[in-house]
Amino acid sequence: MNMYSYKLLLSIICVNFNNIVCLSKFSLDSSNGKVIWTLENKNRSISVQGSVPGGVYSDLQKSGVIDDVLQGSNDVLTRWVAYDTWTYTGKFNVSGENLEHAVAQLVLEGVDTVAYIELNSIPIGSTDNMFVRYVYDVRQYLQIGENELKFTFESPVKFAKARSDKYFTAPDCVPAVYNGECHANQIRKMQASFSWDWGPAFPSVGIWRPATIEFFNAAVIRSLMTYTEKRDTTWFLKTKVYLQTGENVRRVKGNLSVYLSVDGHQTFKVAKQLDVSTKDDGTVEADIDMNISANVITEWWPNGYGEQKLYNLLIFLRTEEKDREISYKHAKIGFRTIELVEEDAALIFGNDTRAGHGLTFYFKVNGYPIFMKGSNWIPSNILPEIGENRKTIDNLLTAAHDAHMGMLRVWGGGIYESDYFYRRCDELGILIWQDFLFACSMYPVDSKFLTTITNEIEHNVIRLQHHPSIAVWAGNNENEVALRGNWYNTNSEFEKYKSEYIKLYVDTIKPIVEGIDPGRRYLVSSPSNGRKSEEDGYIAQNPYDPNYGDTHYYNYLADSWDSNIYPKTRFASEYGFQSLPSIATMRTATNKTEDYHVDSNYSKHRQHSPAGYSFIEAQINRRLNLDKNDTKYFEKFIFYSQISQAMAIKAETEFYRQSQTNWYTMGALYWQLNDVWQAPSWSGIEFGGKWKMLHYFAKSFFAPVLVSPRLTKTGDVDIYLINDRFVPIIEAKIILDIFNWSTLTPIASKSYPADVGPLNARKQASYTLWNADNKEEIFLRFSLKAEGVDCSPYNYLFPVPLKSAKGLKNPNINIAVQKMDEHNKFEIKINVDTVVLFLWLEAESIDGKFENNGFIVTEASFNVEFTTQSTISAKQLEKLITYQYYLH
Ligand SMILES: *[C@@H]1O[C@H](CO)[C@@H](O)[C@H](O)[C@H]1NC(C)=O
Ligand SMILES: *[C@@H]1O[C@H](CO)[C@@H](O)[C@H](O)[C@H]1NC(C)=O
Ligand SMILES: *[C@@H]1O[C@H](CO)[C@@H](O)[C@H](O)[C@H]1NC(C)=O
Ligand SMILES: *[C@@H]1O[C@H](CO)[C@@H](O)[C@H](O)[C@H]1NC(C)=O
Ligand SMILES: *[C@@H]1O[C@H](CO)[C@@H](O)[C@H](O)[C@H]1NC(C)=O
Ligand SMILES: *[C@@H]1O[C@H](CO)[C@@H](O)[C@H](O)[C@H]1NC(C)=O
Ligand SMILES: *[C@@H]1O[C@H](CO)[C@@H](O)[C@H](O)[C@H]1NC(C)=O
Ligand SMILES: *[C@@H]1O[C@H](CO)[C@@H](O)[C@H](O)[C@H]1NC(C)=O
Ligand SMILES: *[C@@H]1O[C@H](CO)[C@@H](O)[C@H](O)[C@H]1NC(C)=O
Repeated sequence: MNMYSYKLLLSIICVNFNNIVCLSKFSLDSSNGKVIWTLENKNRSISVQGSVPGGVYSDLQKSGVIDDVLQGSNDVLTRWVAYDTWTYTGKFNVSGENLEHAVAQLVLEGVDTVAYIELNSIPIGSTDNMFVRYVYDVRQYLQIGENELKFTFESPVKFAKARSDKYFTAPDCVPAVYNGECHANQIRKMQASFSWDWGPAFPSVGIWRPATIEFFNAAVIRSLMTYTEKRDTTWFLKTKVYLQTGENVRRVKGNLSVYLSVDGHQTFKVAKQLDVSTKDDGTVEADIDMNISANVITEWWPNGYGEQKLYNLLIFLRTEEKDREISYKHAKIGFRTIELVEEDAALIFGNDTRAGHGLTFYFKVNGYPIFMKGSNWIPSNILPEIGENRKTIDNLLTAAHDAHMGMLRVWGGGIYESDYFYRRCDELGILIWQDFLFACSMYPVDSKFLTTITNEIEHNVIRLQHHPSIAVWAGNNENEVALRGNWYNTNSEFEKYKSEYIKLYVDTIKPIVEGIDPGRRYLVSSPSNGRKSEEDGYIAQNPYDPNYGDTHYYNYLADSWDSNIYPKTRFASEYGFQSLPSIATMRTATNKTEDYHVDSNYSKHRQHSPAGYSFIEAQINRRLNLDKNDTKYFEKFIFYSQISQAMAIKAETEFYRQSQTNWYTMGALYWQLNDVWQAPSWSGIEFGGKWKMLHYFAKSFFAPVLVSPRLTKTGDVDIYLINDRFVPIIEAKIILDIFNWSTLTPIASKSYPADVGPLNARKQASYTLWNADNKEEIFLRFSLKAEGVDCSPYNYLFPVPLKSAKGLKNPNINIAVQKMDEHNKFEIKINVDTVVLFLWLEAESIDGKFENNGFIVTEASFNVEFTTQSTISAKQLEKLITYQYYLH
């Protein structure tokens, strides 16, 4: 029987295809329509319809008690919500048939966060960690007919404060400019929900992931784990199954079978008879091994390097306690090897070079060293219940994929994302650097805290580890460097904090992760010196050491368009610059004219940097000419901030890519992919999904083949060729065109022979520029001519800051739109009569996307595609399109 007919069979047997147990799973979600949920505050002055999955802010917004939480200053104006006590009460009917089962379990996939749970007025448990699954045996409390399930949520802010009084650990609070709440480190909740430098505080409560009652007689499969290992010509696959029974069922007797579909429409099957008693908590683990010939498996590759082949894995448990019951789980798994290579760099570079000092730090996938291109992922919404929205996740991950990203770091102040998120990463080839959820803080280590952390780590590693996209685990975000750098005045108690750090990330978390998931590296922190930090007792003298591990690098004071300011690193896991979101995005937050100024109360409120907008302004002023008296100052400030950010990240990213010779630098993940609100931030994609110039630029600066120039300190231009393909580039030509700012015809051209090995970067030539006496009149354009390489974008170099460029002319721009044959696509033809800098197209009032944007225009005519879901004619679209560009 092939996989497809099993699915068919199951869909007939099981009422709901995604069920774990066939026949008897009762969903408590509001969408089920069989449960009436009510949300009330403590004194019951508010009583509205509740949602599961859901949360207090989104429910109050839906029922009109509060406005759109992301408008104006509503983050602060709605803060009272976080101080009240809220109850979610659900009423539902249970049938006599349901209660004929020996076991009924209430399964809560996510409760945010501190709740006391009663069923028909009987206490059944309490929760204190939004990242774990809670399971309660409830058969004895259920009754035929109507039942009432009640969750009473304590204020997370008050809970954190009360714990801090008892178990204080630094810091005292976030900076005042965040308008945040203190002591997020005391509560196992999304750390960013108490505010961050890029986001507002919304200390939510609610049942944020699905809730169900499962009725069964014997046992269910709760989780599965897979371990794959390549052994010569076979793949070894170990599947570990986690079964759970009820309190009154102490033995599991049944048959476990594992089916794996492979290439050529074949299915492997292995079965095992079980007759075992359970552990104290009613759980049982069972392993099934398989050896699969490598001939029938296609390896999984990251985006840009090959296919993302996934295989169906189905596990059935058949038991015959009373009736025959079938419990099953389905997963899509991939076969690939991944290794984080940390070896003596002297072996590669020689011990008399700077590069030879320290350890390498790079990922080998299926045996090949791969430079990790990507970004950092923050939660897709500040309200966790909305963060599961599939459309948003799809849009963001597709955007990452389309910009040639192969890795995202799921940052430690957010959440362990939904199963859907990781499944899409598997499908899109986006590797995940998964932080555990501890960020920019010291953490308590009292026994209650460590107990809940233990559950949290076990649950999430088991839940996520079968995804081929997960590449590496990291214990925390910036906590090693925060302690070493005395960010929170911890120096006087350094030894105490250090031993607590080790207790949490090394003694508690490390063995759990390595025990469950021996196939992946656990890094204690990000950034860290990797193995060297471990040798140095976990708090290195300099966790930012460029010769080891990963680094986070921010420098807002130096000239960010100049590659020479960036220190080399083995792996850049964070770096970035702020910019402002577009007017279109800002309109979703405010329409008040007085807000549309850099120094308005609104703008100040949204900017959490203690330095305000001064860093952005300084970066703009270094390179661009922006007159304070300009009547369109604010619009231009936004636009220039995006140019400035895009150019800075371009310079830094290309610097890292140029440095990949001999695997010196092997990763560039800039901060940050996405946003949680309409505010100045480091993101490349605005809240709501609109791409900033940065994300368009990423499509080019992450291109698999790129000619990349570097203006050196001496004033010459080094020309690199970067090749992220498995085949070398040989007998190629790099074309350098020199343009005068005032004309579209190059005033001179040069050609250089070029070649570079596979998965490599190499300097090809140097162009002498330092002695040119007309540097402000020209700029350089680079392109590649090579057999078999059709997608190397143009690259550009501006010899002097653009504000000093001479001869830029006011362009005439003509835009004509034509409908394309393909559905929803338009072709936009652009004609210009002179060089145009950062030509930026917008079609504000309709939802759609330009294929490319922020053009450096050096051709009189070119086309760009526009895709939209709206019904619109070519003529209408033509009228709607507006544009901006840089001119001084
Ligand atoms: C009930 O609680 C709300 C919110 O905390 C508060 O604004 C209101 O004054 C209270 N009402 C009464 C009658 O106590
Ligand atoms: C439960 O069943 C009773 C009787 O049929 C009905 O009146 C009541 O509305 C039901 N409750 C819910 C929550 O569906
Ligand atoms: C898989 O192959 C290994 C040898 O590589 C062997 O020891 C093991 O028993 C095999 N397992 C199964 C389930 O066939
Ligand atoms: C388990 O498998 C054995 C051998 O194939 C069979 O005799 C038995 O009936 C099965 N039990 C169940 C519960 O399916
Ligand atoms: C450097 O390498 C040389 C030659 O391999 C070796 O003799 C020497 O001991 C090395 N020095 C250090 C400090 O590792
Ligand atoms: C601002 O106006 C636009 C256009 O009328 C509207 O779509 C948007 O919702 C408004 N924004 C706010 C915050 O009210
Ligand atoms: C801005 O905030 C200040 C201080 O809170 C206040 O005095 C002033 O009236 C506000 N300005 C506007 C335009 O709302
Ligand atoms: C801007 O306007 C002010 C007042 O009108 C004037 O004093 C100042 O010189 C102007 N600045 C520039 C750069 O034009
Ligand atoms: C650039 O063009 C301007 C205007 O035609 C001309 O004056 C200038 O000499 C040119 N510069 C170079 C380097 O060709």
